[in-house]
Amino acid sequence: MFFKIQRNPKGSIAYLVDATDQLNQVQLEKQELEYVLQEFKKDNHLVSINKYSHHIYLLKVNSPADWKNDEQVRKQGAQLCKLLNEKKEVAINLDNLSGHKKAAYLLAEGMALANYQFLKYKTDQKKLKHSLNDIFFNNQSLTVKELRELETIIQAVYKSRDLINEPLHYLNAEQLSREIQDIGKEGGFRVQVLGKAKIEQMKMGGILAVNAGSILPPTFNILEHRPQKFINKAPIVLVGKGIVYDTGGLSLKPTPASMDRMKSDMSGAAVVTGIMYAVAMLDLPLHVIGLIPAAENRPGENAYVPGDVISMYDGTTVEVLNTDAEGRLVLADALHYAKKYKPELVMDFATLTGAAANALGDVAICAMGTAKENTKEQLKTSGYRQFEKLVEMPLWDEYGLMIKSDIADLKNIGGPVGGAITAGKFLEHFTDYPWMHFDIAGVSYHVSGKDYRPVGGVAMGVRMAVDFLMHYVK
Ligand code: BES
Ligand code: ZN
Ligand code: ZN
Repeated sequence: MFFKIQRNPKGSIAYLVDATDQLNQVQLEKQELEYVLQEFKKDNHLVSINKYSHHIYLLKVNSPADWKNDEQVRKQGAQLCKLLNEKKEVAINLDNLSGHKKAAYLLAEGMALANYQFLKYKTDQKKLKHSLNDIFFNNQSLTVKELRELETIIQAVYKSRDLINEPLHYLNAEQLSREIQDIGKEGGFRVQVLGKAKIEQMKMGGILAVNAGSILPPTFNILEHRPQKFINKAPIVLVGKGIVYDTGGLSLKPTPASMDRMKSDMSGAAVVTGIMYAVAMLDLPLHVIGLIPAAENRPGENAYVPGDVISMYDGTTVEVLNTDAEGRLVLADALHYAKKYKPELVMDFATLTGAAANALGDVAICAMGTAKENTKEQLKTSGYRQFEKLVEMPLWDEYGLMIKSDIADLKNIGGPVGGAITAGKFLEHFTDYPWMHFDIAGVSYHVSGKDYRPVGGVAMGVRMAVDFLMHYVK
C-alpha cells in the first residue's frame, strides 16, 4: 500500500464531507446531487457515482472530531476499501472537503488496515491480491508529517500481523529472532539474540521450564532504540510474550477448538516488534528497549509436569500446577531482566489468559499495573484515540493471596475465578518499577474478520502504544 501527496489525474476520487453544502464543490449533475442527498438522508453515507472514465465516491463523515466519530471514519475507510477492490480500482484520490481536519488520515488508515492480506501460503496470489494499491491525497487533506506517520504505523501493523499469522512450522523461536533482526535492520533498531546456552547460563528457569518439552531451542531477544538525544531519564521497556506455539504442554489444551489459534500466542512479541519498528522509523527521541522471551510450550519427552517446582531467573520458586499457564513464567524472567535498566516504565503485552478474553471479548485490552495514575490516564486516552481501548483491572492484595503455594513461594495458577488478575499479580511479583500489563488474549486474533481487522492477526496494541509514545515526547 502506497500513500502519496499528489493528484492522480486518471484515478477515481473520494470526497469527504460533513455538511451537504460542501457537495457544491464537487462536479455533479443536478440529478446526481439529488441522488446523493437522498442516499445521505437514508443514512447511506458512502455513495458512488459512475462517471464512465472513473468513479466519484461521496462520503459523509461524522464531526466533530472525537474518538467515536473518528472510529466511524476508519470504518468507512474499510467499507470504501472493500468497494474499491470489488470494482478492481488500483488507486484512489482523497479530497477532504469536511471541517474534520484529520478525516482523510483516518479514512486512509481504515482503508490500509482493511486492505491487509496474508497470501504467503496461497498458490494463486496474483488472482487473490487486492487491486487497491495507492492512496493519493491533495495537500489540503494531509501534511507530509502525517503521511510519514501513517506510512510507518501501517507498516508496523502489517509486520506485526505477518508474524502473528505465520504458523509454527515456519516461525519457531529462532526464526522469530531472525525476523526481529530483519525488521530491526529495516526499521533501524538494534537486536541482540541470546541463545539456549546463554539462557541456561543465566538460569532463566521460567523460559527453560516452558521450553523443556520442545526439541527446538528458546531465544531471548533484546531490541533497542537509543537515539543520540532522548528525553526520558531512564529507558522505557516493552516486554512481549513470545510463545511460538501453546499446546498447553502436559496440561494439554483440548483440540481442536482451543488449539486452533495458538500459533498466535506470540502476539505480544509481534506487537512489541511492531512498536519498536515504528519508534525507530519515526526516530522518536526516546530510549526504548524491547525484551522478547521466545519459547514453545509442548508436551515432549522432557516436558515440565504439574507439581514441578521451578526456580525462576530472580530466584523465586514456583509450583507449576498447570503447564498451560506458561506465559507468566517466560514473562517473569523478562520482567526480572528489565530491572537492570532501572526503567522509568515497563509495559508488557501478552496473550495471557482466557479469562481476559471472557471478560472483555474482542472489544478491549485488559490492562492493569503499578504505573502512576497520570501514565494510566495517558494510556487510556491513547487507547480511545486509536480505538484500541483499555479496561483497567485492580491489583488488590486479595488476588495475590490466591497464588500463594503450600510448598513454594508462588504457584502459577490462582483459583477458578479472577484469572486475568491472578496472572497479573504473578507478574507484579517480578517487578520493582512502574509497570503496566496488557492482556491481549481476547483481541489479538480474529477468527472471522470485522471492519478493518481482517481474519487472523490483528496486532491490537501497536497503534495505542505508538500513540502513547508519540505523546510522551510532547
Ligand atoms: N495462551 C493462553 C491464553 C489464551 C487463551 C490466549 C485464549 C488466547 C486465547 C495461556 O497460555 C493459557 O493457556 N492460559 C490459561 C491459564 C490457566 C491455565 C490458569 C487460561 O487462560 O486458560
Ligand atoms: Zn497456555
Ligand atoms: Zn499461552
